Amino acid sequence: MKERTIFVLVIAALALLGLGYLAATRLDVLPEAASSRAVLVDQLFRVMLGISAVIFFLVEGALIYAVIRFRQPPEDESDAVPVHENLPLELTWTLIPALIVIVIGVYSFRVLTQAEAAPPNALVVEVIARQFSWEFRYPEAGVSSQELHLPVGRPVRFQIISEDVIHSFWVPAFRVKQDATPGQVSELVITPVEEGRFPIRCAELCGVGHAIMTSVAVVESEAEFEAWLQSLTAFPSDPVEAGRFVFGKYGCGACHVLADAGGTGIVGPTLEGIATTAAERIPGVDARTYIEESIVDPGAFVVEGFPDGVMPGDFGERMSDAELEAIVNYLLMQE
Ligand code: CUA
Repeated sequence: MKERTIFVLVIAALALLGLGYLAATRLDVLPEAASSRAVLVDQLFRVMLGISAVIFFLVEGALIYAVIRFRQPPEDESDAVPVHENLPLELTWTLIPALIVIVIGVYSFRVLTQAEAAPPNALVVEVIARQFSWEFRYPEAGVSSQELHLPVGRPVRFQIISEDVIHSFWVPAFRVKQDATPGQVSELVITPVEEGRFPIRCAELCGVGHAIMTSVAVVESEAEFEAWLQSLTAFPSDPVEAGRFVFGKYGCGACHVLADAGGTGIVGPTLEGIATTAAERIPGVDARTYIEESIVDPGAFVVEGFPDGVMPGDFGERMSDAELEAIVNYLLMQE
């Protein structure tokens, strides 16, 4: 009887260990791993999941066994035998968890130092969060975009800021999440290792538009990336093309609807038919003045239903005269 019990216990323990191992290695719960950091983080996650799964199944297994094996018979009203001190048992349940915690602690620290090692020559990308859109600026090239484009294999240093409330820059495929805090620049270093399109989310409840505060990270070859930068820096001569170009370069579409230029944002008023609206809104102010003023000094004519101070006030300084003229002429065509 005694031998049989031990045999059953050993088989059960082995089966449970196997189940734990399977849970840790076979459960496919993570999105694609598209950055070097993601590979490190996933390994750490799997080790921790494996240890947790084994402990979970062992503890639950022992519990279920004890509940059945030592169940109190209905007619038995006596107390259980009190147990005082069991040094080997106490040492076991102290030392094993302590050892596990130390191993995971050291391992996590190594992953963190490796992941945050900042390589020189990283591409700097400024991430600007605002209610409710993302803007990505490439200071070296002097362009900005609603989509995040990155060359594969090159380290990137994100400098993350917020223009209003706390947001959180989250790219699940890169395994990074970093708060965007007003008045503070947060840094994040990653190296994309896989080409593709990966979703960007906001991971901090930031207002009514939180759920639509999304974008996409496009990881592409160095050549494709350079071509994309070129397309943003070469100023077209055609007035419509030039207008769309300025619209895209300054990320206007992140906040304004304008189908012709790919704008879908609802942070600010729609620009569909803006030429007509602009001519009628303020008596004595013509459409050209209205549009130009609204770009250079966004507080001049705030449209009812939209808060003041949301649109950046520095477009006047950032845009060249030619760019400002191009965007104004283009918007005057939107009747
Ligand atoms: Cu921004 Cu949620």
